[in-house]
Amino acid sequence: MPIDLAQHIRNIPDFPIPGVQFKDITSLLLSPDAFNETIARMVDLAAEARVDRLAAVDSRGFIFAAPMATRMGLPLVLLRKAGKLPGATLSYDYNLEYGQASLEVHADDVPSGARVLIIDDLVATGGSLKAAAALIEKAGGETAGIGVVIELIGLGGREALADYDLFSLVTFE
Ligand code: PRP
Ligand code: MG
Repeated sequence: MPIDLAQHIRNIPDFPIPGVQFKDITSLLLSPDAFNETIARMVDLAAEARVDRLAAVDSRGFIFAAPMATRMGLPLVLLRKAGKLPGATLSYDYNLEYGQASLEVHADDVPSGARVLIIDDLVATGGSLKAAAALIEKAGGETAGIGVVIELIGLGGREALADYDLFSLVTFE
């Protein structure tokens, strides 16, 4: 029987604010079989594009991108929240619903023209992944595609990322 990954993703109502249905991956991570299956499926989909490097979005993207990188034999680039990377960085500022955020990358981690597949746990509005792609491009790379475990439908993420090939394993309304 194939594993139904959606069954392993817990729904937490009213987190972080009333009315939001939070899709919680911690329950998926507690099942080695479901976690392993998640990585295997992500690797299968990632293998459809020509990819030189993976880039992982801080912080939940790290959980999925790291095992993918070792299985695929690809370098792993970390896209981090501001002030975390010790070397020379490039940054990209973007708007959140309330306020601003920025993502940073080590300037040397993205060789000119490198095809980079960006990995995160989840797409909602697409704002984080749009910023991630803009950062890769600012650093001189090309966005080879975007892969997520969970796609929330109806929040505009796929539309916001229409310029990119986006794959997801599980969708929720
Ligand atoms: C969450 C999630 C995605 C992003 C999706 O990250 O892990 O990265 O939001 O939302 P969006 O499509 O509307 O941008 P969050 O910034 O909460 O931080 P975390 O990964 O460090 O938990
Ligand atoms: Mg995140």
